[in-house]
Amino acid sequence: MPRGGPDIGALLKPDEVREWRSLTVENPKSKPTAAEAAALKEKKAAEKKGKDSLLKKVVERINDSTIKKDKIKKALDKAAAEAPQEEVPRPFWLDPPSGTRDFEPAEMKVRNWLFDHMRQTAKEFGFKEYDAPVLEHVELYERKAGEEISQQMYCFTDKEGARVTLRPEMTPSLARMVLNLTNLATGEVRAALPLKWFSIPQCWRFETTQRGRKREHYQWNMDIVGEPGIVAEVELLTAVATFFKRLGVGPDIVGIRVNSRKVLDVAITKAGVPRDKFERVCVVVDKLDKIGAEAVKCMLTEDLELPSQTADVILQCLQASSVDDLAKAVGLSQSDPAIAELKTLFELCKAYGVGDYLDFDASVVRGLAYYTGVVFEAFDRKGELRAICGGGRYDRLAELYGGEKCQIPFCGFGFGDCVVVELLKDYGLMPDASPSVDVVVAPFDATMQPHALKVAASLRKAGLSVDAALTACKARKAFDLANRQGARLVAFVAPGEWARGLVRVKDMEVKDPSTNEGLQVDVPFADLASVVSHLQNAASAKGASWVPLGVDAAPAPSTQVGATLGTAGKLSLKATAKFSALAL
Ligand code: HAM
Repeated sequence: MPRGGPDIGALLKPDEVREWRSLTVENPKSKPTAAEAAALKEKKAAEKKGKDSLLKKVVERINDSTIKKDKIKKALDKAAAEAPQEEVPRPFWLDPPSGTRDFEPAEMKVRNWLFDHMRQTAKEFGFKEYDAPVLEHVELYERKAGEEISQQMYCFTDKEGARVTLRPEMTPSLARMVLNLTNLATGEVRAALPLKWFSIPQCWRFETTQRGRKREHYQWNMDIVGEPGIVAEVELLTAVATFFKRLGVGPDIVGIRVNSRKVLDVAITKAGVPRDKFERVCVVVDKLDKIGAEAVKCMLTEDLELPSQTADVILQCLQASSVDDLAKAVGLSQSDPAIAELKTLFELCKAYGVGDYLDFDASVVRGLAYYTGVVFEAFDRKGELRAICGGGRYDRLAELYGGEKCQIPFCGFGFGDCVVVELLKDYGLMPDASPSVDVVVAPFDATMQPHALKVAASLRKAGLSVDAALTACKARKAFDLANRQGARLVAFVAPGEWARGLVRVKDMEVKDPSTNEGLQVDVPFADLASVVSHLQNAASAKGASWVPLGVDAAPAPSTQVGATLGTAGKLSLKATAKFSALAL
């Protein structure tokens, strides 16, 4: 961190400063009349309300507990006062379309951090990554069960007359890809089953935007193809819980509600409801939380024409508080396969060490038509956010697309990138998003520039990330650059040292006890590959405490940014630079 604390002004976005200024009410130059004073009071109240809300957003975005709210407020006041008055109104199309996001480097860093954890978790569970086009055939989503998703598609007819859509979810694309490995006449899949595949696609839904819901989102998908047994669900639920653990999100913060559509299926079949209404019943029942039991009953009896008694049985099933209760409500014995399967799932998850995350919840049925068995949704225990992830078994989707021979079992989940970030913000678990490179290379003057580029190349070969200053850069400028880039080291390429074949390297994570400044070493150019050993040896010779490589001096709660990206022998990627121009 630079002396005097971070440069908060540099952390503010132009649109935030602009909005702050637009909220500012000027004080009158002369004494206001009583009527003017009353109007001014009202305007000031509106200014306070608007600014409080904007300040909250900016604090959340910066997400740095070491920076006090007051300081951010002062920085906004200063920036708003100093910003040049705009002469040209900003056209609306300079903002990204409603519900979509730009990812500036700091946001991109968080996104990559999240995706790294998703990828790492999936790989730990032996899943392979796949992808598919964001543009898909509309036909894949025409399921006619009244699902919300079909009404939210970004679809259009292309210049060749094909009906296409931006994919709202990945599951149909996965089924399409698996069917391309399948002999449709026999149902034989030309690949060793089960397939364990994962992906992090961008999905598009024309939704009303709200906290955690956007019109585009990235959705981590993990699916198992070709395994009919409940162990597939257990594996997926365990992967979700493992991911939460990696992020520092414990079972006290989130839970995963689990249920099985198979039980509901038995209940409605017993009540004499035609099989082809099952999917529509599930889609209606999924609205219970949003519209309440009365409205659900009304839809079941009026839209789906179910007898009132059947609607009551269904609603009663949704209220069961345990698997045993559910069995009783439906009139099933404990040994019924649907009930036994659910019980086994909970036992296996407990044995796997993730039982604390799981809750049985008979009201979870999910709003997508294709699920056929176990369904689940992760939620925040405070109940403030929308579903964090959702999934389940869907054994009939391939059959729907590929014909009756294609009875291929599928099971999986989708985990969005939006809600989980809101959750991490709420619990102070966001990673550090400041920029970071290992070294800044600073040429003393224009004559040193070619040598500085060689130094940068050598350091990169040694495995370090290097920001080579593009113009001459004496001490002060070099330190400013290093602070901005979050670099731990500065390599000064100056005529005096260069003439002796040396490069002066300063490490600001390690304090030299004799100067009370960052440790400084002159490293032979030919030996730059061992720059880290040089620094470490110098630290030990001077009795300075060495900061181990790849370890942050002041870890944030979840500094796996360093852990995932940093490798042995690499410097910390989240080095908080503390440079000053002294002691060179
Ligand atoms: P879904 O419940 O529609 O399921 O979405 C899964 C997750 O994606 C949600 O829990 C949420 O995290 C995220 N998500 C969905 N819509 C939005 C949105 N508008 N903005 C932000 N995040 C969103 C499916 O999509 C299934 N295809 C999942 C699946 C995979 N089932 C089996 N395999």
